[in-house]
Amino acid sequence: MQLFRTLSALAVLTLTIIHPSVVLAQTQGKIIDHKLPNDLNGSNFTYPFPLKLYQFTSQRQQVEMAFMDVAPSGKPNHKTAMLFHGNFFCGATWNETIRVLTHIGYRVIVPDHIGYCKSTKPERYQFSLSQLAFNARSLLDTLGIGNVTIIGHSFGGMLTFRYGLMFPESIDAMIVINAIGLEDYVGKGVPWITIDTNYATSLASTFESVQAYENTTYYVGQWEDRYDVWVQMVIDVFYGSQRDTFCWNQAQITDVVLTQPIAHDFGHVRPPVLLIIGEKDTTAIGKTWAPADVVAKLGNFTALAHDVSAQIPNCTLVTFPELGHAPHIPNPDMFQAVLVEWLTTGKTISVGKT
Ligand SMILES: *[C@@H]1O[C@H](CO)[C@@H](O)[C@H](O)[C@H]1NC(C)=O
Ligand SMILES: *[C@@H]1O[C@H](CO)[C@@H](O)[C@H](O)[C@H]1NC(C)=O
Ligand SMILES: *[C@@H]1O[C@H](CO)[C@@H](O)[C@H](O)[C@H]1NC(C)=O
Ligand SMILES: *[C@@H]1O[C@H](CO)[C@@H](O)[C@H](O)[C@H]1NC(C)=O
Ligand SMILES: *[C@@H]1O[C@H](CO)[C@@H](O)[C@H](O)[C@H]1NC(C)=O
Ligand SMILES: *[C@@H]1O[C@H](CO)[C@@H](O)[C@H](O)[C@H]1NC(C)=O
Ligand SMILES: *[C@@H]1O[C@H](CO)[C@@H](O)[C@H](O)[C@H]1NC(C)=O
Repeated sequence: MQLFRTLSALAVLTLTIIHPSVVLAQTQGKIIDHKLPNDLNGSNFTYPFPLKLYQFTSQRQQVEMAFMDVAPSGKPNHKTAMLFHGNFFCGATWNETIRVLTHIGYRVIVPDHIGYCKSTKPERYQFSLSQLAFNARSLLDTLGIGNVTIIGHSFGGMLTFRYGLMFPESIDAMIVINAIGLEDYVGKGVPWITIDTNYATSLASTFESVQAYENTTYYVGQWEDRYDVWVQMVIDVFYGSQRDTFCWNQAQITDVVLTQPIAHDFGHVRPPVLLIIGEKDTTAIGKTWAPADVVAKLGNFTALAHDVSAQIPNCTLVTFPELGHAPHIPNPDMFQAVLVEWLTTGKTISVGKT
């Protein structure tokens, strides 16, 4: 009886603790917002809005996530948007999207994920989509923010899906742009390779190699000078004060993408999703080392867009037929028009040829 009573008490306590509107993620840290050095954890890029640090304990060490927290510039709509950057990009790449969202009344939170840009590059860290999603949710908890709209691109899009599976009770909507992981690469035949091998690839990155890669996959071979700045931003991290750990973290994140597919879970995504796809994207992790017959099956974003949107219970699909992996960069006006229309009316607008 005593045991029973103890168990009941525990059950009540547990229910209280995990009630979704009460506690979302547990770790909470502190916010540091005094003046920060421009060269922060290996990145000296100048961000478009002031940075703060979210300092917390994760996996037995102190880490810092750099983030921007931008107040509405228009009439507040009392909603918050959180933006997840992709690999080779940083929070700063969202500058135009931040301006548009704050203009229509959102408070906008833009973190650099652990391992990236101005955040800690840990020597030893068990990277996972779940850990990065948890870190982002615990930042919101520390800031006292409940529901959010999550917007993620590329690796940040894959992370948005994992976040959506973990924290559906506190999401208003999700907008996913050319996510990687719309297919299970290893499941489709890409051989798994070691983190050590990924690390060697990462160390060899140069301005020219990143530019050539982005030229083909992000911009469909139509390079413009204004894209140089984003390559330089990440190359400065590759050759900055934390070069070695950054390259190692990049290698670990490639391993996350290979070993933690989200492609089997789209049917369980509960929040409403706007899926935005540049159809000329051909990104597929493993394309450079998989056999030709496997490569031929990968990275067809026209097909993936339709397959994935059909699996997600509440998904709106908007495709840009002529754009590649980063449709928000070459054509920000069209991208933002789609974003704002869906967020404010729930409708889509015709994109047509861009
Ligand atoms: C990251 O930058 C912050 C601010 O300069 C600093 O306090 C922290 O020690 C840095 N982290 C590492 C691992 O160097
Ligand atoms: C966004 O940032 C890039 C890089 O600093 C800059 O070239 C571009 O003009 C910025 N756009 C806006 C609208 O601020
Ligand atoms: C938060 O999001 C959940 C899930 O979408 C929704 O049920 C709930 O009403 C939202 N809460 C607020 C305060 O908007
Ligand atoms: C981008 O790719 C196109 C088509 O292959 C090529 O003509 C152009 O020179 C490339 N530009 C850069 C900067 O690599
Ligand atoms: C950033 O660091 C890189 C590499 O150390 C350097 O070439 C570049 O000039 C620096 N940029 C700024 C704005 O300090
Ligand atoms: C789908 O999401 C929209 C918000 O974008 C919402 O208005 C609608 O009720 C949802 N439909 C279903 C079937 O849940
Ligand atoms: C991609 O998929 C679409 C739709 O399934 C198909 O029509 C097209 O031929 C495929 N493209 C390639 C290059 O395989």
